Amino acid sequence: MNVLITQEIDESGVALLDDAGLTVQIYDEPQPIPRAILLEMVRGCDALISMPTDSIDAEVMDTGPIQIVAQHAVGYDNIDLDAARTRGVVVTNTPGVLTAATADLTMGLLLALGRRLIEADAYARAGNFPGWRPTLLRGVDLDGAQLGIVGMGRIGRAVAHRAEAFGMSVVHHSRSGGIPLDALLETSDVVSLHCPLTPETRHLIDAAALERMKPSALLINTARGPVVDEDALAAALEEGRIAGAALDVFEHEPLIHLSLLELDNVVLAPHIGSATWKTRRRMATLAAQNLLAFASGEPPPNQVS
Ligand code: NAP
Ligand code: GLV
Repeated sequence: MNVLITQEIDESGVALLDDAGLTVQIYDEPQPIPRAILLEMVRGCDALISMPTDSIDAEVMDTGPIQIVAQHAVGYDNIDLDAARTRGVVVTNTPGVLTAATADLTMGLLLALGRRLIEADAYARAGNFPGWRPTLLRGVDLDGAQLGIVGMGRIGRAVAHRAEAFGMSVVHHSRSGGIPLDALLETSDVVSLHCPLTPETRHLIDAAALERMKPSALLINTARGPVVDEDALAAALEEGRIAGAALDVFEHEPLIHLSLLELDNVVLAPHIGSATWKTRRRMATLAAQNLLAFASGEPPPNQVS
């Protein structure tokens, strides 16, 4: 089998494929693979290990032609599942192994935003620190605050568990349970997004949703950028209609809304939710294991289509 890996991944995953005798090509430049190069490199390949930054559509599948797309991520909104189904292309993902790391990053963003750590770091480095001061850089308490989780799946539950250890009360909204979204938005001190990007969740947090949130509320997004209408978010932050936002993902990634870049009440991270050494090793291994199961005629453990 000929495999194209569209970005450098942890060596453990590549070693599994090499040891099994598969032919592996890697696009190992530091940026996502450009479309023209993807179409060139995929020709003659049967299998892809893809990233959330790759648009895997009918043209890519037919150019291989590809039999399996093993996504190196849990989210797979970048893959055209209808095109995969009509062609009998198998699609897999990497659930579970990145849950803890992504939940940790969510809490990190919440603490950075709520306790103004980015501002505090800049202040300390600037050399102006006059000594302890009762009014310096006051933030918000997590203890006693209500966290509203949108999408109570693996990562949502892991965030809830961590938040409870910080003394937060937790409510949630999912299609299959929890409280209505409007009630969550109206009552929560922190709203954290953990649903997949689907046609139903695109711009789930729009101007009307932001309007329902408390003026003191914080929004955390470690799900997918387009779940939030970024223009509406920037306007709400500029006008003080919510108090702050911490974002790991962006609507037009890798571009970041200019207003968000300028605001002090925003904390930004470059889509690093699952970026720990151990988690990236486990994701690479799992993507390779899915591919190898398919290659040996067994059902891949994490088939989504
Ligand atoms: P998961 O276990 O499938 O959980 C997703 C949850 O979202 C489910 O509980 C689902 O419940 C809920 N949901 C689906 N559609 C919804 C809707 N329309 N409204 C409200 N809730 C909805 O997935 P996961 O492993 O927790 O991952 C969640 C997402 O996080 C991924 O899809 C990915 O986009 C993102 N992610 C980002 C990073 C990062 O680096 N920032 C890392 C990992 C994952 P119901 O079906 O009951 O609604
Ligand atoms: C990363 O964004 C993932 O979906 O795993």
